[in-house]
Amino acid sequence: MDVDFQNSFLFILLCLLSLLCYSLYIRKPQRLDLPPSPPSLPIIGHFHLILSLLIHKSFQKLSSKHGPLLYLRIFNVPIVLVSSSSVASEIFKTHDLNVSFRGLPPLDESLLFGSSTFLMAPQGDYLKFMKKLLVTNLLGSQALERSRCIRADELELFYANLLGKAMNKEVVDIGKEAMSLSNSIIFKMLMGRSFCYGEAERARGLVIESFALFKKIALATLLHKPLKKFGISLFKKDIMSVSDRFDELLERVLVKHEEEKRSEHQSADMMDVLLEAFRDQNAESKITRNHIKTFFIELFIAGTDSMGQSTQWAMAELMNSPNILERLRKEIESVVGKTSLIQETDLPNLPYLQAVVKEVLRLHPPAPLFARTSREECRIRGFYIPENTTLLVNVYAVMRDPNSWEDPNEFKPERFLASLGTGEEDERREQAHKYIPFGSGRRGCPGANLTYIFVGTAVGMMVQCFDWKIEGGQVKLEEAAGELNLTMAHPLRCTPVARAINPFGFQITCR
Ligand code: HEM
Repeated sequence: MDVDFQNSFLFILLCLLSLLCYSLYIRKPQRLDLPPSPPSLPIIGHFHLILSLLIHKSFQKLSSKHGPLLYLRIFNVPIVLVSSSSVASEIFKTHDLNVSFRGLPPLDESLLFGSSTFLMAPQGDYLKFMKKLLVTNLLGSQALERSRCIRADELELFYANLLGKAMNKEVVDIGKEAMSLSNSIIFKMLMGRSFCYGEAERARGLVIESFALFKKIALATLLHKPLKKFGISLFKKDIMSVSDRFDELLERVLVKHEEEKRSEHQSADMMDVLLEAFRDQNAESKITRNHIKTFFIELFIAGTDSMGQSTQWAMAELMNSPNILERLRKEIESVVGKTSLIQETDLPNLPYLQAVVKEVLRLHPPAPLFARTSREECRIRGFYIPENTTLLVNVYAVMRDPNSWEDPNEFKPERFLASLGTGEEDERREQAHKYIPFGSGRRGCPGANLTYIFVGTAVGMMVQCFDWKIEGGQVKLEEAAGELNLTMAHPLRCTPVARAINPFGFQITCR
């Protein structure tokens, strides 16, 4: 088992705490009809498993040995691990409402998953209200159509940036550049007229810091209840430091937005709509300034890194598969041509590009694990699941399950062509719970369409306009250790070489 120094320290600290818990609680005898449980250690239960540097992989190994539905115990906190599409399917078809809650926020006063959280909010008026705003103003198909020019402008800037690097023969860190692009796009879509690149950059720095905190936040969330009894808040200082800086940045943006009056021809942006709801005493759900700030933070966190990482993984896979890259380039050239830059309106005519994006998300899901909590006791596969149990879905294991996927570890975009080509409803339904990079059910990710557009156009442009030189000729596809999101261990660094197509033929305005 791989354990780093920081985790070892945590491990010892929590062992001591657990002794305290243990002496105060007498463990109840367990029911016999719980899902199977692999051997565990005294007191800490299966805690050692989550100290592994690649949690999703150690869980995948565990489930291939002991089964797709397992009962684990982290100290006295129960966790049910889900690792196959058939179990996931039963959960989302039969128990979706019961498991539509994620868990408790760790720190009430924090803007990072604190009490104003949207991501962790239970089903109810607040969630319903914010989801409606999110779909109508940001992520629904009509809202995405309205913000198309924002993304087209940013894609052109991205192209110009890469062209500059190609001319100077500069090495590019693809993940970093893609994350910068996704950050600007999300920030611009959210902030509307108050957008400023400096503030977007600062928000990106804070998103990176938040990711570094994620393992701690997950642990603090998991152990929130037992430790609260002792007045202990894990990692409070670290979490509040990032939260306070987000607060300061977002308060400034909110005030700027309130002061800058909207001109007649400008339509209301997401920020206007939220501020209006904040001021409206009769709104369907009363929202506070902290709700608005937390909502923005959670959207940056949910969207920025995941879209950037997926773009990086896609380019890495393509560079290691020259035949697939060539086929993709031919498709783009035949549809888009050599004198205009790929745009999102081209995507429906580029099935192979869509298949490449889907396959990348299958092999390298940026969120390899996601959690839900059962509100009430229920039965899954005939096993008893107690109320308030965390269900951890191993997306990574489900999408590499050999019972659902042929050659599950191979990069084969063609596998998606049949369903994309025919748009068959049966095929889609069949795929529904074996293809879950965006989760599923009523708490499934609302950002899937934006992601397909973003990764499709960013990868499409990089393939259409540049050849790529990699040092050593082959990309290392290992995953970074110790992260909750799935990132590359060796960032993809390569040099763009501008292709012999006419960049000045590109239209500079949004079509
Ligand atoms: C590669 C890109 C992305 C991946 C792989 C991804 C994955 C996920 C997953 C696995 C969940 C949990 C789903 C569940 O519990 O069933 C989720 C939730 C969520 N995602 Fe994404 N996501 C991506 C992009 C985005 C983007 C671009 C946004 C918005 C800007 C976004 C916003 C959200 C929100 C708001 C939720 C919470 C929904 C709720 O709790 O009701 N995501 N995402």
